[in-house]
Amino acid sequence: MAKIKRIGVLTSGGDCAGLNAVIRAVTCRAVRTYGWEVYGIKDGTAGLMNRPLEYMKLGLNAMSGDILRAGGTFLGTVNKGDPFNFPLPDGSRRNRIKEIADGYHELGLAVLIVIGGDGSQALIRRICQQGNMKMIGVPKTIDNDVRYTEYAVGFTTAVNTAVEALDRLAPTAASHHRVMILEAMGRGAGHLALNAGIAGGADIILIPEIRYTIDGVVTKIRHVHEEGRNHSLIVVAEGCHTENGETLTTTQSGGEVRFGGIGAYLSAAINKALNIETRITVLGHVQRGGIPAARDRVIASAFGIHAVDLVAQSKFDRMVAWHDRGVIDVPLASVVEGPRPVDPQGPIVHTARGLGIYMGE
Ligand code: F6P
Repeated sequence: MAKIKRIGVLTSGGDCAGLNAVIRAVTCRAVRTYGWEVYGIKDGTAGLMNRPLEYMKLGLNAMSGDILRAGGTFLGTVNKGDPFNFPLPDGSRRNRIKEIADGYHELGLAVLIVIGGDGSQALIRRICQQGNMKMIGVPKTIDNDVRYTEYAVGFTTAVNTAVEALDRLAPTAASHHRVMILEAMGRGAGHLALNAGIAGGADIILIPEIRYTIDGVVTKIRHVHEEGRNHSLIVVAEGCHTENGETLTTTQSGGEVRFGGIGAYLSAAINKALNIETRITVLGHVQRGGIPAARDRVIASAFGIHAVDLVAQSKFDRMVAWHDRGVIDVPLASVVEGPRPVDPQGPIVHTARGLGIYMGE
């Protein structure tokens, strides 16, 4: 067994439910089984970049059941500010990779366990390669678009939240004979909207991977009425384009671009074509917060244990993944090739279409 004494763990990218459960499992395994030290790095790579270094030693404090139950990440996270081209207060930009690498070596870390989505895994892998740092990845994201894993931490909780929203929207839609549009998160991938839409009884699910027409949407609403129901539910992923392929975004004060507006676009288009009321619910960060679902806690725990076991075997540059009811590990090199979109020919889309849900042409 390799002589490991101290490992680092950080969360990177948008938060989600279940991150604390991973940190807890990593700490339990490393401290209890291997007798190592665990340093939790604060706010993603910022904790290694800033001086003084921002970290906390994790021990009994990180092993409690309260941590398992808590949403968010008690280490903090960031999803902006590329360390290769980091924006400084004076408007200039600087490559800050050396500071991160120096921080890692100064702390005497043997490896960094990175809990992040595909973007974070790719970015921090590059940092690790340049800074002579070792890395193990743990996939998390409500978008569930990390390659080679059936589940990423946080996805199940987000789906449950969106389904609960549909459960609440359905009766009020029926009372007022309305079309209810639920705008779910999901940048380039529609896994969240698709799964929530099926589980929540949607009539129409629109995702970035499948082109749709307004005519198709309107025709489906008409059919629902002809079948004797005077209300309908639409779930649309925020990253969906307009009928003409336009991307709807907003730019934040720091220049960061975020999706938004597709629900309003659909509402206007439906209003124009049909004499029917529509209402929009933008679920937003409600999907990211909250108490992690049991499945997320189990997956998070399994990932954390496996990640530390990989370190014990000196197997680095790998990501843990959920496959066929268990945990495996895959090369990070293949994970960082890009996100995993919904397969338009896959079984979940087939299920939606089989139910008569309109998903595009
Ligand atoms: O990638 C996860 C995600 O929640 C996306 O679904 C969403 O577009 C994005 O993060 C939102 O990021 P922010 O927290 O910066 O608004």
